Amino acid sequence: MIRPSDHQTIRLKVSKSVRKISATILNKLLGRWLYDKLINWWYNSNILNKIRKKVNFLKIKSRYKFRFYNKELESLKLHLGCGRHYLEGYVNIDAVKSQSTDLIYDVSEKLPYPDNSVEIITCSHLLEHLPVCLMANIEQEYGEKYASVIKILKEWQRVLIPTGKLIIELPDFDGMVEEYVKADISRQEELICYIYGGYRFNNIYDIHRWGPNKYRLTYILEKAGFRNIEFKESQGHHKEFCPCLRVECIK
Ligand SMILES: C[S@@+](CC[C@H](N)C(=O)[O-])C[C@H]1O[C@@H](n2cnc3c(N)ncnc32)[C@H](O)[C@@H]1O
Repeated sequence: MIRPSDHQTIRLKVSKSVRKISATILNKLLGRWLYDKLINWWYNSNILNKIRKKVNFLKIKSRYKFRFYNKELESLKLHLGCGRHYLEGYVNIDAVKSQSTDLIYDVSEKLPYPDNSVEIITCSHLLEHLPVCLMANIEQEYGEKYASVIKILKEWQRVLIPTGKLIIELPDFDGMVEEYVKADISRQEELICYIYGGYRFNNIYDIHRWGPNKYRLTYILEKAGFRNIEFKESQGHHKEFCPCLRVECIK
């Protein structure tokens, strides 16, 4: 008998093969340069993203995911701000559609999942994109500056099961500044993208809004009510390009 999770795997395999075949044909027909341009336009066009949001794939997909997960009592895992990075076994969520997006959704809003329903939330190089107000109580150490990120983390905590895990990878602002002052000009130009964000494609989600370091992260995670906060060796592909932090904590 084919279980719902098998359906999901088959669906993914078929859509991956279709994508692969059409990519090869287009690649051959158009040449790499034109193909890359077309793909960039398709996934990053603001007009197309607005249409996609209007059609509301979110409702269709979340209903579909809920049906599977609730029926089979499988654990639900969320990969927030996935970009083009697909994690098998996770619901891959991003505000901007790419070939890896299961759900188009702004994760700074209320998540479309019930309380205590998610086993793991993971995000890589997302948290520095979330809104803050750096001028709030500027005279204080941290004060109200990070109130909005704390509010978002509390929302993520709501959907996590008791003892659910949050894993965060992100650039280490202090590490980058240290490296920047010693680097040559070309490395400095590279690092500046990792400090401020890419600012690509006129995309408001491609901007870094604050500078994460161990102290700020510990502060916001504690304020959001997470516990067992542990800093670990970074595991993501970004560590090849800039100093990174990895933190794991429990609801
Ligand atoms: C630097 S990319 C990281 C992509 C991927 N996680 C990785 O490690 O390669 C940041 C991603 O976060 C997404 N993002 C930023 N703010 C977001 C938000 N509020 N809601 C959902 N996604 C967001 C961006 O669209 C982008 O894909």
